[in-house]
Amino acid sequence: MTDTKKLKVLNVAVDDGYAQTKLVGEDPETGKMVIQIIRSSVRQGRSGLSSFNGGGIDQYETEEGDVFTVSNEIESENTQFDGFHTSQLNRVLVHHALRKSGYAGRKVNLVTGLPVADYFLDDERDIEHIEAKTSNLKLGVKGSDGGTMPIVENVRVGCQAVAAWFDYVLDDNLEQRADVRGAVAIVDIGGRTTDIAVVVGGNAIDHSMSGTENIGVLDVYNGVRKAIRREFKIKEKFPLDQLDAAVRTGEVKLWNKQHNVAELVEAVVGEHERKIAREVERRLGSAANLNAVVFVGGGSALFSTIAGHFPNGVMPEDPEFSNAKGLYKYIKVKA
Ligand SMILES: Nc1ncnc2c1ncn2[C@@H]1O[C@H](COP(=O)(O)OP(=O)(O)OP(=O)(O)O)[C@@H](O)[C@H]1O
Ligand SMILES: [Mg+2]
Repeated sequence: MTDTKKLKVLNVAVDDGYAQTKLVGEDPETGKMVIQIIRSSVRQGRSGLSSFNGGGIDQYETEEGDVFTVSNEIESENTQFDGFHTSQLNRVLVHHALRKSGYAGRKVNLVTGLPVADYFLDDERDIEHIEAKTSNLKLGVKGSDGGTMPIVENVRVGCQAVAAWFDYVLDDNLEQRADVRGAVAIVDIGGRTTDIAVVVGGNAIDHSMSGTENIGVLDVYNGVRKAIRREFKIKEKFPLDQLDAAVRTGEVKLWNKQHNVAELVEAVVGEHERKIAREVERRLGSAANLNAVVFVGGGSALFSTIAGHFPNGVMPEDPEFSNAKGLYKYIKVKA
């Protein structure tokens, strides 16, 4: 057995969203930054499925004694419920992401985030909620195959929008690349929601301009589903994975043949991009008093021209990873 006392503690950030778990951490061997993304597909109980391609299904048992299955091959439980961030489901997803990213048997200094609406209560930090998420992640998860799990030594919880701000102002070498004074709007387009937060000086939120809109990439999937049904005169249900593939590739498989739906996808994406831009405008006005309007989240990767709606609009290279990278940079700076 390895002597765990001698193991180095590795910094790892996990942006545990409702749709996807994004991980940015120190490579156990080289110390360089590694990134990983895993769809949040989880369900309580054992799955009757057996894996055809080997390794597609993972089962875990929590300290409380409940069993969870994580796999892309199962229909996920809806993760969008109040309390997701302090749930066993969330803990299993985070431990799963750590294990899949090479941290099994390694000591980890973990940092994760909460959306602005959960991190703050009125204008104050919601200490109780932050504590609840921290202690939840400290509880145990075992691989039900008896496999080695990561050793979570320390847990910190930050605010997603503030994390994205860190990623905006610091480059990968932790050098400052943007003005830290003044206000920056972070627009995080996720699966179900778009979070708008105005971060002032890196440590405060202007709550009067911040808030959450119920629009995101899942609305695009729904729009594409409807448009495909209309176009091909069919009533089939499409699983999320198939819609995601249609949106990303512009093709869909029907009657065992690939069909080009690029134009239809483009129309739906364009319509939602304009809708989200209008919501952002409603909150920020023309954004003339802000240093920048930074678009992050998986939705920003999809609405690739949305930053163009504002003269000071900015899209980072990897918007999907902004929160995770920012959380990682935060622990590196504060270390
Ligand atoms: N390049 C892309 N093209 C199309 N869709 C994308 C692209 N990148 C990400 N997505 C989709 O964007 C959605 C949102 O991704 P993101 O990682 O921001 O979600 P999340 O943080 O888990 O969600 P939430 O913010 O609601 O908690 C996902 O459904 C993902 O599949
Ligand atoms: Mg997110």
